[in-house]
Formats: sequence, C-alpha cells, structure tokens
Amino acid sequence: MKRVSLTQHLVEEQRLNNAITAELRLLIEVVARACKTISHSVGKGALGGILGSADTENIQGEVQKKLDVISNEILLEANEWGGHLAAMASEEMETIHPIPNRYPMGEYLLMFDPLDGSSNIDVNVSIGTIFSVLKAPEGMGAPTEQAFLQPGAQQVAAGYAVYGPQTMLVLTTGHGVNCFTLDREMGSWVLTQRDMRIPEQTKEFAINMSNQRHWYPPVQRYIDELLAGKTGPRGKDFNMRWIASMVADVHRILNRGGVFMYPADARDPSKPGKLRLMYEANPMAMIVEQAGGAATDGRQRILDITPTSLHQRVPVFLGSKSEVEQVTGYHVE
Ligand code: AHG
Ligand code: MN
Ligand code: MN
Ligand code: MN
Repeated sequence: MKRVSLTQHLVEEQRLNNAITAELRLLIEVVARACKTISHSVGKGALGGILGSADTENIQGEVQKKLDVISNEILLEANEWGGHLAAMASEEMETIHPIPNRYPMGEYLLMFDPLDGSSNIDVNVSIGTIFSVLKAPEGMGAPTEQAFLQPGAQQVAAGYAVYGPQTMLVLTTGHGVNCFTLDREMGSWVLTQRDMRIPEQTKEFAINMSNQRHWYPPVQRYIDELLAGKTGPRGKDFNMRWIASMVADVHRILNRGGVFMYPADARDPSKPGKLRLMYEANPMAMIVEQAGGAATDGRQRILDITPTSLHQRVPVFLGSKSEVEQVTGYHVE
C-alpha cells in the first residue's frame, strides 16, 4: 500500500480544491506536530512525571491536571513563531493569547481544548486534543476576544487528536473528514481512513446516565424511549457507551455511528450544559457534519450559533443524523 503522509495529503488538497492556503497548511502541520509531542508525553505517563494535579484552577472553575497545563504550553509554543496566526485561545486560558511582537502576525485564529478528557488521564483511558481554526476579521488591528466570536460555520479547519491504543488525527478543511495514524517509529502521520462517513441509523447512544434525575423533559423522553427497547416506540434495542472523553466518544461515533449527548440540565440553570462552544462543540460539529452527521444544541444547528463569549457553554447533541433529528424534534415540539 502506498503511504500518504499528512503533508502530501494537505498539498494535494491545496492543489485539488484550492481550499486551503499555504499558510493554513503550515498551521495544520504545526498543530499536528504539537499533538505528536503531547502524544509522546501521554505515552510516558508516570515515567514522564506528567500524571496528577497541577493544583491550579482554570477559568472554568476546574482543577487543572498537570497534563492540561503541559499540553496548553506545548500548543502555544509550537504555534507562536510560524507567522500564520494572529492569536490563540484555549480552555486553559482566561483570555486570548496574542502573538508576541517579536514574531510576524498571520491571518488565522486558533482555538483549542489542549487536553480533552482530563478525568481519564490518570487511569490510562483515551484522551485527546481538539482544535478549531477561524480567519481573523479583515482589517482587524490588534486581535481581541471579539475577533473569535464567529459562528462555527466560519471555521476553515477543525480536528482532533486522540491518544488511545493508537494516536490518530482526524481532520477536516471543509472537504470531508480524513483520519491519520501516527507512525511512532517514523514520527509521521499516515493517512489511514479517507472520507469518513457516519452511518445515518444507529442503535448506540452516549450520555452520562448519572445525571438522569436532572434532565429536562425532552431528554428524559428521548432516553426513556431508547431504553424501552424492541417493544417500545422505537422498536429496537439500543446499547450505551460513555467514555467521558468527548474525543473518544466522537471517534467511536465517526467510525460506527451513534448519538452523543451532553444536555443542559436542572442542576445549575445558569449553565447551559458542560461543553464549550468554541473549542469543543464547534470543531466537533464541523467534523460530524462533514462526515454526513448532524449536530445541534437541541434546537438549532451548533454551527449557526453566534457566540457571545469565549468560554460559552452549550448543550450538545451530535452524531447519526436520524437520532439527532429525533431528539432535536422533542425539544422543538
Ligand atoms: P475537559 O477534560 O476538556 O474539561 O472535557 C471533559 C468533557 C468531555 O471530554 C466529556 O465528554 C465530558 O467532559 C465528561 O463529563 P462527565 O464527567 O460529566 O461525564
Ligand atoms: Mn477541563
Ligand atoms: Mn474537553
Ligand atoms: Mn480540556
């Protein structure tokens, strides 16, 4: 089999679709390189001193793990000097990180969840990195938080790396979704799945069931119907999976279908769900749509939401089209 590297794939994409600029290609390669470095640290575990808590809190009010902080630094350092970015934003930073004056400024904005699935780091379960790329608004002077507040439909690229039994990179630039596997000996990303498609129908769902008592009626009804199985209104048995790393749950769904939900609930009515729009929901929604699936906040397409703040949270329903439509329908009714 002829091996196609990430670089070759991106160069071909640049030629074929004229979809990506040389700058965007460079940006994606730098992010991919940073993910390789993170993957290396993840693989060392206790031997690399990367497990455990950093004893600091992020803007989300979460206690940071050492690896949250390390991954954030790896991504910042890797992307700072290349000249392709105007600014970066991250789950682990209160506000944006403009490119320091000593480097040239580019036209893209990069957002990331440096380490997704923090609760799984110390138990050797799959974790990942999620990223999203926007174009800085024309004529923007010094970058501001406002520059980032564009609907997800404006993303020019989105992707994630999953650090599991294999390290993989799943990427879209708006022309389908492709998956690359890290060849650890060669240190290169090799194209292993072309044009990933999410099956439209599924018998598998993913939700944190321990929150059931807090759910609002539409989610309550939808899950009740799935659980009723063959003799219920859906007429089939459903299986459940919940890894608690969004990257790993989404990766499963991309490969074999399913529906992923993190709804808003009655625990804290001021919090519309747990997941963050800019660096979790938007990039995953773009990937899922590019693979033929759907992604909503229960009412509207996630990619159509106009963000109001950098760390905004949204309810998330994504995956196989028919199920996302079903549960969205119950909210709209
Ligand atoms: P992060 O580790 O980046 O803060 O994100 C964790 C998210 C997401 O990966 C996962 O789907 C969800 O939190 C799990 O939440 P619960 O622990 O409430 O199930
Ligand atoms: Mn977190
Ligand atoms: Mn996350
Ligand atoms: Mn995170």
